[in-house]
Amino acid sequence: MEYLTVALAKGRLATETLRILEEIGITCEEMKDKASRKLIFVNEEQKLKFFLAKANDVPTYVEYGAADIGIVGKDTILEEQKHIYEVMDLGIGCCRMCVAGPEHAKALLQNGRLIRVATKYPHIAKDYFFNKKHQTVEIIKLNGSIELAPIVGLAEVIVDIVETGSTLRENGLMVLEEIYPLSARMVVNQVSMKIEHERIAQIIEGVRKWKGGET
Ligand code: PRP
Repeated sequence: MEYLTVALAKGRLATETLRILEEIGITCEEMKDKASRKLIFVNEEQKLKFFLAKANDVPTYVEYGAADIGIVGKDTILEEQKHIYEVMDLGIGCCRMCVAGPEHAKALLQNGRLIRVATKYPHIAKDYFFNKKHQTVEIIKLNGSIELAPIVGLAEVIVDIVETGSTLRENGLMVLEEIYPLSARMVVNQVSMKIEHERIAQIIEGVRKWKGGET
């Protein structure tokens, strides 16, 4: 039997995903050793391999088949636009993609002015402003701490993820428009879906049953 390889987006999502997998009998003891610097973890018995990657890279690993399965946020899937199958919503890591900024920026969104939008998600921001709102904007790509942009005058608004809303609140910003809700998804390589259909379907079914029992 070939190994099935699972790519997990580093961080909270990976921890939560491993907990779910463990509940459906898929374990990887090696991964629990926090001190380890290993990048890839193997469960010999179940013929599974796991690795942690930067969220943005997970769709790439899955598209090229370096991972058969990936667990990653819907935000990353929409932004990366890779040829992969999105097979299920795990219902974890729930948050919202929003346009945010200071209260006075609300008016700029209503009268279609040319504004600057800072974001880690240029595709999502472009699609929202150009295709849905038909508002011409300048997109400024940043890599983190996006909330800084309107504070220091780099942009009028931001497009970013809002989970609890505390980052916005603590920086005098607010949600101005909601783009869409987000959560973690399971994605699958298009070839693996055919070749390893039975094993992948079993995992999907296991998680689906677990979700059913949870809710
Ligand atoms: C994300 C996001 C917001 C924050 C939202 O940033 O970009 O900054 O979390 O969470 P909240 O609504 O619960 O405050 P992340 O922590 O991933 O780091 P980043 O700023 O480097 O992107």
